[in-house]
Amino acid sequence: MSSQEKVLDLIFGRWRSQILYAGVKLGIFDALGAGSKTAAATAHELGLDPALAYRLLRALGSLELLREDNDRTFSLTETGELLRSDHPQTLRGVTLLEEGPEHYALWKHLPAMVRDGKQNAFMREFGRMAFDHAVRDADYAQVFDNAMSSYSSAQAEWVLNALAAYDFSKMTHLCDVGGGHGYMLARFLARYPHLEGTVLERAEVISDSTRLWAGKLGVSDRCRYVAGDMFKAAPRADAYIMKLILHDWNDDECVRILQNQLAAATPGGRVFIVEHVIPDPETSHFAKLFDIHMMCWGTGRERTQEEYAALLEKAGWKYVATWFPASHAMGVVEGAKL
Ligand SMILES: C[S@@+](CC[C@H](N)C(=O)[O-])C[C@H]1O[C@@H](n2cnc3c(N)ncnc32)[C@H](O)[C@@H]1O
Repeated sequence: MSSQEKVLDLIFGRWRSQILYAGVKLGIFDALGAGSKTAAATAHELGLDPALAYRLLRALGSLELLREDNDRTFSLTETGELLRSDHPQTLRGVTLLEEGPEHYALWKHLPAMVRDGKQNAFMREFGRMAFDHAVRDADYAQVFDNAMSSYSSAQAEWVLNALAAYDFSKMTHLCDVGGGHGYMLARFLARYPHLEGTVLERAEVISDSTRLWAGKLGVSDRCRYVAGDMFKAAPRADAYIMKLILHDWNDDECVRILQNQLAAATPGGRVFIVEHVIPDPETSHFAKLFDIHMMCWGTGRERTQEEYAALLEKAGWKYVATWFPASHAMGVVEGAKL
């Protein structure tokens, strides 16, 4: 790709993600889940305008999410399958959140934030922090919580891969702080049958038991869900795991969260921080882009391994090591209570 093509490709990135979003939002990937259909039949089933729906399907075909035949019949490609709501690794939830109206609206504030030196476009756009917005807007809350499980289907695999050689045999109780609907913790409990687990979450997130993963993944006898505030206290446990938690918060907020876990941990306890760890300057990495999203979304940021180690030490934990999956997509930073 020439430099000019590369810049053009970057400029039009949003067109691609919005076309994809429209396909997911309108239910096109689910409608084609059972097999191929004509554009007209798909439009009829979903209550769409047939002429405009055909053009959207054609664009989704151009993105290689659908396959178009000569008679305007469409089917899902292997990539498009990942956008079906019933796919085990579905990315539908991530699409609906990250290209949905709230998060879309945040990005326009980026130049002003960088100019002013004040992050948090959620506050600029909605006048409140994202989790406060979720309390007042049930649609955003639902889309947000579903997206976390959707992210987790790939990320839990990376974390289990990163910690494949880790010796969990002396631990009995693992607590996932801010664990959402408990997808990752349930995967841990399924992998390590001697472990018991607790998900600590905001009450609103875990009130509907039909949305929780422990039962669906067959570990509900060893998993409990506790409503609480990680800024106030953590349940007693041998180890804590937090995925996509510290990146939501500034350094002082992170230290408070980590201190509460240190106070509650059993002697020799551990904390595992799961995040997109920023690598060296020469390496291109998704973490450096996610960092800008966090600048928009609230008070948080992505951090380097050294910055996580410094947070641990400031909160009184001893930094032990950082574990990576083969892909290096995320890192697991380990701290110990000594
Ligand atoms: C970015 S999400 C990550 C969810 C989950 N760990 C995952 O990776 O899928 C952050 C989570 O922190 C939870 N959370 C926010 N503030 C909290 C608090 N004060 N106490 C407990 N959980 C909180 C949110 O409800 C949300 O589920």
